[in-house]
Amino acid sequence: MKKILMMSAAAAFVAGTVVATPTVADAAAWSKCKACHNFAPKKKVGPGLGKGNGIPGVFGRKAGTFPGFHYKYTKYIKGDAWTWDEAHLRKWMCNSKKAIKEFTGDDHAKTKMPPQHVCDPAKQDEVIAKLKSIS
Ligand code: HEC
Repeated sequence: MKKILMMSAAAAFVAGTVVATPTVADAAAWSKCKACHNFAPKKKVGPGLGKGNGIPGVFGRKAGTFPGFHYKYTKYIKGDAWTWDEAHLRKWMCNSKKAIKEFTGDDHAKTKMPPQHVCDPAKQDEVIAKLKSIS
């Protein structure tokens, strides 16, 4: 009896670990953006993604318009050609290298942002929800 109890406690522990793992992986979907972006109106390696000081957050913002980053954007992003809505963000976070070509209609277009491979729709939902919450 004692042995069975111990085993079920071990099983519960393992089950708990299994439940906890996806939470950590989910958090990583948008936390990896923070390596290069502030979720505030402040530039880092990339432009700021969060609103403040009269600057709008990235969701609904025109591409390439973060003040103070103008000299750093690749020329292919400059020019307000599209707005960061859901459809653009999904393609961007999955494969920015491919997306920039599609958005500009230019096969030679490049971006300084490496592909992030966030292609799973559920993970993209989380990133988008996060970006909306700071915009
Ligand atoms: C390794 C650094 C790096 C990571 C990680 C990264 N980015 Fe970027 N991001 C950049 C750089 C650099 C730019 C500017 C691109 C350019 O000018 O070509 C950029 C630009 C952007 C833009 C365009 C913003 C604007 O003002 O037009 C968006 C949107 C964006 N990133 C979203 C994300 C999201 C969402 C993630 C996480 C899934 C992410 N980035 C992860 C470096 C990064």
